Amino acid sequence: MKPVLYASRSSKRLEREIKHCELARRICAEGIVLLENNGVLPLKSSKIALYGAGARHTAFGGTGSGENNPRYNITPEEGLRYAGLEITTGKWLDEYDRIFDTEFFRYRTALAKAMRKVPLMEHMDYACANPFYLPAGRVLNDEDTIECDTALFILTRQSGEGADRKDIKGDYYITDDEKALLNSVTSKYKDTVLVLNVGSVIDLSFLDEIKFSAVVLLMQGGMETGNALADILTGKVNPSGRLADTWGNAYSDYPSYDTFSERNPDEYQEDYKEGIFAGYRWFDKKNIKPRYAFGYGLSYTTFRIRYLNTEVTGTTISVTASVTNTGTVSGREVLMLYITCPEKKLIREVRSLAAFAKTSLLAPNTTENVTLSFDLIDFAGYDNDTSDFILEEGGYYLTLNGEPVSIIGLDKDAVTEKVAPLFRSERKIEFIKFDKNPSSKTDLPRYQIKASDIVTVTHDYEVPAFETSEKIDEIVSRLSVKEMCRLIVGRTYLGPYRHRVFGAVGYTTSKLFYKGIDGMAMADGPQGLNLTRISTKPLHNLFAIPTLPSALRWIHKVSRIGTSDEKTKKILYYQFCTSWPNETLVAQTWDVELARMQGDAIGKEMLEYGVVFWLAPALNIHRNPLCGRNYEYYSEDPVLTGKMAAYVSKGVEAHKGCFVTLKHFAANNLETKRNRSSSNVDERTLREIYLKAFRIAVKESDPGSVMCSYNKINGVYTALDYNLQTAVLRNEWGFTGLVMTDWFATGHDESLDELCCKAGTDLIMPGRPFISSKIMKAYKKGLISRDDIERSARRIIKAALESHTHKTYLHSLSVTADRLPHLS
Ligand code: BGC
Repeated sequence: MKPVLYASRSSKRLEREIKHCELARRICAEGIVLLENNGVLPLKSSKIALYGAGARHTAFGGTGSGENNPRYNITPEEGLRYAGLEITTGKWLDEYDRIFDTEFFRYRTALAKAMRKVPLMEHMDYACANPFYLPAGRVLNDEDTIECDTALFILTRQSGEGADRKDIKGDYYITDDEKALLNSVTSKYKDTVLVLNVGSVIDLSFLDEIKFSAVVLLMQGGMETGNALADILTGKVNPSGRLADTWGNAYSDYPSYDTFSERNPDEYQEDYKEGIFAGYRWFDKKNIKPRYAFGYGLSYTTFRIRYLNTEVTGTTISVTASVTNTGTVSGREVLMLYITCPEKKLIREVRSLAAFAKTSLLAPNTTENVTLSFDLIDFAGYDNDTSDFILEEGGYYLTLNGEPVSIIGLDKDAVTEKVAPLFRSERKIEFIKFDKNPSSKTDLPRYQIKASDIVTVTHDYEVPAFETSEKIDEIVSRLSVKEMCRLIVGRTYLGPYRHRVFGAVGYTTSKLFYKGIDGMAMADGPQGLNLTRISTKPLHNLFAIPTLPSALRWIHKVSRIGTSDEKTKKILYYQFCTSWPNETLVAQTWDVELARMQGDAIGKEMLEYGVVFWLAPALNIHRNPLCGRNYEYYSEDPVLTGKMAAYVSKGVEAHKGCFVTLKHFAANNLETKRNRSSSNVDERTLREIYLKAFRIAVKESDPGSVMCSYNKINGVYTALDYNLQTAVLRNEWGFTGLVMTDWFATGHDESLDELCCKAGTDLIMPGRPFISSKIMKAYKKGLISRDDIERSARRIIKAALESHTHKTYLHSLSVTADRLPHLS
C-alpha cells in the first residue's frame, strides 16, 4: 500500500492562497455590522489611538475543533497600519502585552496545579470550564498624552467547544476593569469607536452609561480580520452586514436564561419550554424590545425600498421591490421578507423569515429591482396532535423590511405533508403558554391560493434500500461480515493511513485497501480546513492529533503542535489553508453567493490537500447566547442557517469527490455536559426550528454526509435514533449520503457503538479497532443483522469510489495489480 502525501515541500505563497485570502477578507468585511455611528465613521483622520485586548490578542475564531491554523492572522493593529493609519498608542499596547503574559502565566500555573487533583479523563472538561479571561489593560491617567481625536477600542471575548459561556463579568458582562478603562478612554478622546470582537451575543447595557461615537460588530473574522476591519473603518467597504441574531437588552430577555446549561437544576435535562419561540420569535411574541433586532445594521449610505408587486404561481410566492441608493456613497442593501401566518389551531410566530436577498453594489442614485421568492408550503406548521404539517385557512401577511406589502389568502385548511410521529417524549415539560397574535386589518393587495391545489406529501418509512452499482456489488461480494464491521469503524489518529493529511482529524480505514476500498481523510471546519500548517515527515502521525478542544483558552498560541518547528533540521511539509470568518459572521453577510464562493474555495483546498470529508458546515440554532459554540453556528433563524449551509455545501460539492458534513444532527444547542444531556423538545419545535435548517440544506444541496450530535433528543442518543438518522433524514428528506458519529459520541452508557448501524449511523468516528469486534459480537448475538452492517458498509464504499482521492487508488492499482487480479 503506497502512501500518498499531499502537503507541499515549498512554503512559497501560492496564487490560490492570495485569491482565497482576498475572498475571506471580502466576506469578513461584508459581514461586519455597523451598530451605531454618529458620523465618526468612516474615519476622517490618518491617526488613531488603539486600545483593548483584541488590538493584538484578537480572537480570530473560537476554540476547539473549529479552530484554524493559517499562514498568518492579521490583527486590527496590523490591519490599520497596512491601511496607512498611524497608531498613536504603541506604548499602551506594549504594556498590555506584558500584562497579558503575566496573567496568562499565572493562569496556566494555577490551572496546572488545580489539574493535579482532577482525574486525567476529566482534564479537558475541567480546562474548558475554567477558561482564561483576558485582562482589561491599564486605565488611562493624566500622564497619557492624547495625539489624536479618535480612539478605537477592541473588546474581545473567547469561547468554544466543551463548555458554555457564563453570565459573569469577563464573559457575558464587561468587568469592572474594562468599564474603568472604557470610561477613561471615552473621557479623553472626542470620539471613541467600540469594536466587538466576540463569537456571540454579550451584554451591551454599558452602552447606556458609556457613550461611544460608533459601535461595530466585528465578530471573529479569521485570518483577514484586521484588514477587513480596516476596510470598514476607512470606508473602503461600506458596511452591509445585518445581524443574524437578536441582541437583547439583558440576558433575562432570552427565554431559557434561567435554566440554560449550567443554571439548569438538572444538568442532564434541557427542556425547550419556549417551544418554537427561539430568537426574534420570542422577542416578537413577548413584545420585548431588543437592543438590536435580528436583521439590523447601518450603512454609510441610505436606501429607498419601493414595493413593486407580488406574484403567485402555485404555492410559490415572489415579491419584487426596487431599491435605490439615495445617499452619496456606493453600498449594498439587504431585503428581508417575513410571513405572518393565520392562527386557528396552532399558535404562530408574529413573523418568520421567509426569504432574503442582497442587492449588488449600488452607486448613488442607482436602482435595482430585487425579487424574493419562497414556497408557502415551507411555512406550514406542524400539528403535534395529528402529525400533519398544515396551512390554516386565512390571510398570510407579507412584510418587506418592516413594511406590510401583500396578503396571500388560503380558502381552506390544507395538509401539506403527513409524517409519522417520531419524537414523542414521556417527560412532562411545563411549556410556556403564548397568546395569539393581535389581528391585523389592512387594505393590502390580496392574492388567493386554493387549498384544493395543494397536494399532500406522504412518506414511505421502509428501511432504505442498499446502495448498489456494479462496482459496489462486486466489492461487497468479496467482503466478509468481519471486514464490513471493520469498514464501518473509522481509524484513530495513529493510522495507518494511505492518504497522509497532516492534522486530519480522522480517516476511514485503509485496511481494506486490497479489497478495493481506499481510506478517506477528514478535516474539521467550519472556519476553513483545520489542518496542520507545518509538519515533519517522521512524526507525521503525531501531527495528526487534532487540536485539543478548548484545552486551555488561548493555549494554541504556545502549544499548537507542528506550528513552531520551522527551525528543525527535518524535512518540512506545508499546508496553508484559508481561515475564514466564523459562521455567524458569514450569515451576517446575508449573501448566499458569497457562501457558495467560500465553499468553492474550500473545495479547491480539499482537492489540494487530499481531504475528502470537510466536517462542516455546522447548523445548530442559536437558542441561547451562552452556547459555547455559537460562533461556529450561523444564526437563531432556521431559514438563514439552512440557506447559508446549503450554498456553502453546493460550493464545496461542485468539486467532484469532495463532501461536506452537516453537523451536529441535531439539537446540540449547548456544550457543557453535551455528551450526556437530553434536549427535551416537542416534535413541532424540533421540526419547525431545530431540524428545519438541516432539512433545507439536505434538500437544496444533497450533501455527502451528516454528523450526528453528542446529545440525546427526548432521552435517545442521536447516534442511535433510527427515527432521526433514517426516518427523517432518509425517508422524509431523501438523504443518500453517509451518517457519521461525532467524535467519541458512542461507547459510553447506553450510547452503544454496536447498535449505530441499525439506526442508520454508518460510520463510528474516530473509531478504535475493538469497536469492530463489538459490532461483530452484536451481529453474532442477533442484535443487528448482516443487512444493517452491509447497508452502512455500502454507503462508505460508495463514498470511497466517488471520492476525489480514488484516482490515486486507481493509479496504485497498476502497481499492485498482481494482488488484485479481479480488479485489474
Ligand atoms: C466536534 C465536532 C468535530 C469533531 C472532530 C468533536 O468534538 O464536536 O464538531 O468535527 O470533534 O474534531
